[in-house]
Amino acid sequence: EKGNYRHFMQKEIFEQPTVVAQTLSSYLRRSDNSVALPQFDVDLSTIRRLTIVACGTSYYAGMVAKYWFEHFARLPVDIDVASEFRYRDPVLEEGGLALFISQSGETADTLAALRHCRKEGQKIAVVVNVPTSTMAREADLLLPTHAGPEIGVASTKAFTCQLAVLGALAAHMAVEKGRMSREEEQEVVRHLLEAPAALNAALDHDDDIAAMAHLIAPARDVLYLGRGQDYPLALEGALKLKEISYIHAEGYASGEMKHGPIALIDEQVPVIVIAPSGPLFDKTVSNMEEVRARGGQVVLISDSKGLEQASEGCIATIEMPEVHPLIAPLVYAVPVQLLAYHVALVKGTDVDQPRNLAKSVTVE
Ligand code: M6R
Repeated sequence: EKGNYRHFMQKEIFEQPTVVAQTLSSYLRRSDNSVALPQFDVDLSTIRRLTIVACGTSYYAGMVAKYWFEHFARLPVDIDVASEFRYRDPVLEEGGLALFISQSGETADTLAALRHCRKEGQKIAVVVNVPTSTMAREADLLLPTHAGPEIGVASTKAFTCQLAVLGALAAHMAVEKGRMSREEEQEVVRHLLEAPAALNAALDHDDDIAAMAHLIAPARDVLYLGRGQDYPLALEGALKLKEISYIHAEGYASGEMKHGPIALIDEQVPVIVIAPSGPLFDKTVSNMEEVRARGGQVVLISDSKGLEQASEGCIATIEMPEVHPLIAPLVYAVPVQLLAYHVALVKGTDVDQPRNLAKSVTVE
């Protein structure tokens, strides 16, 4: 039921603080601020390489998690979209761990990749939202998200819940591999637990974003830029926008702009820059300046520190709370979801049932 919301997508965006808290509470022990995973017959300390496979938004969650597994656990990660994975004859070491991410647990390409990995002797971990799904049944290590049923075709709350589980898993792996001390683990857990409140603070900007959507709705093309773990957020923002508003949108790594896409920039092209303040901020801002110098219409999504430094000349800004980098991808998912939602409202498209799309893609 939609309750007081106009669309399932809107309801699901606003449910995020609650469902992320629910998901976190099944992976984090508050008594001692540690990560607690379900029992699993694999010694995670022996894992030398992780293979992540997923599609669409779930793939972008995997891209964010790659940064975490590499950063915290120093674990090499190989990631691919499921529709490409099997066809490149991937090299899989006996006893390796393969991780599949899926809201529905039924996506045909992801399921086929899972079965391929099983045949190749991999242990199978699955982050899935539908507990009765095929992927859930075929997992060695089942890591459910507790987002509740997601009805809108555009995935929203499943994404942030996937990130919550993946953050916990990355910290756990790091501890198992001796790369993270108890104190560091406690700190990571504390930051993850800050996510629900930060998501609420992000949702407070709904009205600003609704007002701004009128600037984006007339565009033919929109670009999204991000660097580091915010790069997958740029891809996710572009996917959300094209999926429900039918505006052509692309996400790029900020530094790649000058290698081609900057040729597209003129006064007609809004460029959404996702850039929390932090070590990568200045670099992204200089890419943003390059865009602005060519007439690009920049919308900057950052925190108060970042906006103070770089909002001059932007056509609009969206202020996010200042958060620890670990939870930034969860928090910055909110404005890109809301922006797509409000642009779709302005355009009058069918938000929950966009044309040509199905909630669960069960053909390869
Ligand atoms: O159920 P899954 O997570 O496996 O689905 C994967 C994609 O089909 C899905 O994320 C799709 O890209 C969404 N419609 C994006 O909003």
